Amino acid sequence: MAQTLEIESRGGKAGTPLLEVDSLVMHYGTKEGDVSAVEDVTFTLNNGEAIGLVGESGCGKTSIALTLLRLLPDNSVIKSGDVRLDGESLIELDEEQMRRRRWRDISMVFQGAMNSWNPVYRIGDQIREALRLHWPETLTYQEETDRIGALFELVGLNPVTMERYPHEFSGGMRQRAVIAMALSCNPKVIIADEPTTALDVIVQDQILRELKNIQQELGMSIIYISHDIAVIAEVTERMGVMYAGKLVELGSTVEVFHRPKHPYSYLLLKSTPSITGPRRKLAPLEGEPPNLIEPPTGCRFHPRCPFATEQCSTEEPSLTTVQDGHAVACWNWQEVPEIGGLQK
Ligand SMILES: Nc1ncnc2c1ncn2[C@@H]1O[C@H](COP(=O)(O)OP(=O)(O)OP(=O)(O)O)[C@@H](O)[C@H]1O
Ligand SMILES: [Mg+2]
Repeated sequence: MAQTLEIESRGGKAGTPLLEVDSLVMHYGTKEGDVSAVEDVTFTLNNGEAIGLVGESGCGKTSIALTLLRLLPDNSVIKSGDVRLDGESLIELDEEQMRRRRWRDISMVFQGAMNSWNPVYRIGDQIREALRLHWPETLTYQEETDRIGALFELVGLNPVTMERYPHEFSGGMRQRAVIAMALSCNPKVIIADEPTTALDVIVQDQILRELKNIQQELGMSIIYISHDIAVIAEVTERMGVMYAGKLVELGSTVEVFHRPKHPYSYLLLKSTPSITGPRRKLAPLEGEPPNLIEPPTGCRFHPRCPFATEQCSTEEPSLTTVQDGHAVACWNWQEVPEIGGLQK
């Protein structure tokens, strides 16, 4: 198959670090004050790995993604920290250098993207446009068509449907096409922000399973973002739990699922129906996430935390490894009970 047609991941050796996020801090300036949307976030995505970021609405998941791609609005400021792709700092690149990395090296399925297709152009032509902008070499029209056809097949769409307009696609088809677009330049990393949220459960499940197959077949590295911990559990090997701009727990998905160490992760799991495990009583997660202009002192979760002690309101715990590859930012993590009954 011609090089231009091959759909592959250009990542390195499986298990070696690919994307390193180091003490990242990003704020938005507003009339009311600074919104602390990403606060001291550190994690690494390895080659060939799928990791997840989970947390309630407004906890900063999309903000992290947009910071990694440097696609932030004008009122944002990256205050400190670094993002390295294959050892190269993305934060230090100028806009032109970053433009060449975007889509080709690090691409994204944007939250809500299935509704942002331009209604007056055929779906295939919109992917063609993206290829013309971002593919490193010039392709002939036929090569472009062949590549789009191969991408369609990969994501479970019939290639003849590339001639259709967005309104002729179902929601699931539009989202599959969004995924094809994100894959179009053989990126090393894909960030998938709520890739299935707007879809019904059956279509959601199909697309997640297919994404997982594509990721494993191509040895792709993916960051999945979702407010739904069940989605993250289905497709990732490791996951991070975010609360109010901070990463509060990071570990293998199975471990976080069975033995969460942060009270927030524990309560989030208790409020989520089990996927495959036995039925259990659900406990709603009480309270509201804090205002990120004036977040609580100490641990940001302490006002909602049943395990909070005096120390939690004054001293901020940092993310600390407490067991093999399992890190938590909590003074009282040892108090958190096992979940039990949840199976991956
Ligand atoms: N352009 C902006 N200007 C000011 N504040 C913003 C801006 N974009 C996001 N925020 C705020 O930053 C915080 C994090 O938002 P973000 O969209 O990253 O959360 P999220 O976890 O992706 O939420 P959701 O699950 O709803 O998509 C929120 O408090 C949000 O109100
Ligand atoms: Mg979001």
